Amino acid sequence: MMKKIYSNIYSFNKKTLKKTIKYLKRGNIASLPTETVYGLAGNAYSESAVKKIFKLKKRPLKNPLIIHYFNLKNIKKDVILNKYFFRLYKKFSPGPITYVLKKNKESKIKSIATANLSTIAIRFPSHNIIRKILKHANFPLAMPSANFSSSLSPIKAQDVFDEFKKKISLIIDGGQSKFGIESTVIDLTEKPKILRPGIISSKDIKKCLNITLSKKKSIIKSPGMLKKHYSPGIPVILGKKPTNVNHAYIVFGKRFSNKTNYFNLSKKGNLKQAAANLYKTMRKIKNLGYKKIFVVNMPNIGPGIAINDRLTRASK
Ligand code: TXA
Ligand code: MG
Repeated sequence: MMKKIYSNIYSFNKKTLKKTIKYLKRGNIASLPTETVYGLAGNAYSESAVKKIFKLKKRPLKNPLIIHYFNLKNIKKDVILNKYFFRLYKKFSPGPITYVLKKNKESKIKSIATANLSTIAIRFPSHNIIRKILKHANFPLAMPSANFSSSLSPIKAQDVFDEFKKKISLIIDGGQSKFGIESTVIDLTEKPKILRPGIISSKDIKKCLNITLSKKKSIIKSPGMLKKHYSPGIPVILGKKPTNVNHAYIVFGKRFSNKTNYFNLSKKGNLKQAAANLYKTMRKIKNLGYKKIFVVNMPNIGPGIAINDRLTRASK
């Protein structure tokens, strides 16, 4: 039998649930699974916990964190709700969508968590483990993706360990994240506007709200969305085919053969499946030692919009 040398990855049960809540309550940081990507969670009411998150991720303080809740019960003191929020919440939450709302003055959320903005991004994740933790904790969780700022988000416990090693002492294993790409972020403080595309598409949102969405460039634009992001650590070249077998080629659909350097995001041409495989595939390519990633043009519809958004940023 192989001897475990070091592991900070825990499976989830009643005992680890208790341990995790106690640990977070004291202001420590844990990595927890969600249906989108794994997060780096800290008590949003604790200044020191929030500071630890920024430090661990090497995240610029001007990039605000998403605050995660179990349900509507505790959010009224933190944000000002509106009709768009209620409609979207009813349809899509819990699930992979984040709402930017005006901050309530009485909110106990540490202002460093929201980069001193007058808004808060809130999300109600659906993964059963994070739901249980949020249900039993009496505080919301500030939780960015569990990766160093600008690198690829993790979609399994081992990805988090590979990135942070012993810097995080509690990682909860919740299997592979179902969606594999970060939540859709929508600004609801004025005319609804998508700040970060995700699996829940603008089409889904328009249909639910029965309005058109704003395309205006807003001042508070997700600050983290401005620069290079989601980088696998090697060059990513879009819309071109590699001329060399030492370069990987990310493809999509059944018209591609099974060459060793070809990596198909979805043979059957399913964009949701392609999104779920995107980060996994880029990590695999990097670990296999390829020096460059070429990517075929992906359809720019539905989840394809989110895929193209991440690919474009990865190629910067
Ligand atoms: O799926 C997800 O949303 C994951 C899981 C862990 O929940 N979290 C995540 O967090 O992706 P993070 O920190 O990696 O990305 C949060 C995004 C950033 O682009 C940030 O700028 C934006 O949300 N954001 C947070 N608060 C905001 C606010 N008040 N106004 C505008 N954008 C905000
Ligand atoms: Mg992130």
